[in-house]
Amino acid sequence: MTVLGIESSCDETSAAVVVDGTTILSNVVATQIPFHEEYRGVVPEIASRKHTEWILPVVKQALGEADCTLDRIDGIAATNRPGLMGSLLVGLTFGKTLAWATGKPFVAVNHMLAHLYAAHLHTDITYPYLGLLVSGGHTIICRVSGFDDIEVLGTTIDDAAGEAFDKVAKFYDFGYPGGVIIDRLAKNGDPRAARFPLPNIHGDGHAYDVSYSGLKTAAINQIDQFWDDTYERTPENIAAAFQETAVKILLTRLFRAVEDTGLTTIVAGGGVAANSSLREKLAQRTDLNCIFPPLNLCGDNGAMIAGIGYQYLSRGITSPWTVNTSARVEGFRKYGRRLFTPTLSSVD
Ligand code: KG4
Ligand code: ZN
Repeated sequence: MTVLGIESSCDETSAAVVVDGTTILSNVVATQIPFHEEYRGVVPEIASRKHTEWILPVVKQALGEADCTLDRIDGIAATNRPGLMGSLLVGLTFGKTLAWATGKPFVAVNHMLAHLYAAHLHTDITYPYLGLLVSGGHTIICRVSGFDDIEVLGTTIDDAAGEAFDKVAKFYDFGYPGGVIIDRLAKNGDPRAARFPLPNIHGDGHAYDVSYSGLKTAAINQIDQFWDDTYERTPENIAAAFQETAVKILLTRLFRAVEDTGLTTIVAGGGVAANSSLREKLAQRTDLNCIFPPLNLCGDNGAMIAGIGYQYLSRGITSPWTVNTSARVEGFRKYGRRLFTPTLSSVD
C-alpha cells in the first residue's frame, strides 16, 4: 500500500511517499528556517503563509521523486494535531481535499505518535517498549504497546526539552535553531564549566516528570552562581554545560522508568532525539536496546506521517471529512492513563 504523507504542524512543509509503512520512496522537507531566523523563533503567521505557498510544489516534488503519479497512491495521511493551528490547517485541508477529489481514503494523524513511529521506518521494533518523545513542544516518557497505544508515564511540568535549548540559544545569541547550534558548540566545550542543579520534583504522579524552567533560569539568569571560574565563559563551554544537564534531566527519569517497568527497549523520537550527547549517553547503556531514528527522520517530516498513516489505512481506519485540527493533545497532560487505545473505527 502506497501512502502520501503530509506534515505542516510547525515550520517545515513536508510530503513523502512511503510503501507499506517502511519503504520511503521520497521524503521532501522544505524548511522555513531562513524566514524565522531573524526572529530567533517560529512566527506562526509566517509559517502558515509559507505552508500555503509551498504545499502544492512540495507534494508535487514528493510524487516526482518517488516516480509516482497520484493514481498510484492508495491513501493519504496528514498531521492534524498537535501544532500551530494555522500551519496544521494548511496540510490537513490540502490532504483532505486531495483525498476527496481523487476518491482516496484519508486519515488524520497525531504528530507525536508519528515521531515515535519514525524509528519503525527503518527497523523492526517489537512492542512493548519505553518511548522517549522529545521535541520543541513536548517531552514525554511513555510505555508504548502499539503504534497508537501509548501510556504517558511522565512529561514536563513546564518547558519542553527542545524549548529549553532554543531559549538558552536565543538568550546568548548563539543562532537559530538553538538545539542544533548548542549541540554543535558543545562539541568544543567542557561540560564541567558549570554545575547546574537538577530539578527537584517529587511526589505522587511525578516519578517520571521532568522540568526545564530551573535549568533555563540557572543558565540564563544565575550563571555566575553555578560557573566554575577556572573555565573561560565561552559559547562552547556554556553550551556544553547546559547540554550536559539538559540530557541528564531526561536520562535520570528515563532510567527510573526502565527500572520500574522492566522494559529494556527504548525508542526515541522528535527533534531533540538528534542530539549527539543524548545519543552517545544512551548508546553507553549496552544493557539496553536504544533505538533512534536516523538524523533526517528526527525532525518534522512527511515520511513518519505516511508511515503511521499506513498503519491506520491498512486496517481500514479512516477519518471523517469533518476531522479538524487541534493545537494541543489534552491527554498528554494526564498521568498513568492509556491515551490511545487501538482504534477500531474512525479516528478523529
Ligand atoms: O520535532 P521537531 O522538529 O519539531 C517539533 O515537533 O517541535 O523538534 C524541534 C526541536 C527544536 O526545539 C530544536 O531546537 C530541537 O528539536 N533540536 C535539537 C537538535 N536538533 C533539533 N535539540 C538538541 N540537539 C539537537 N541536535
Ligand atoms: Zn515535531
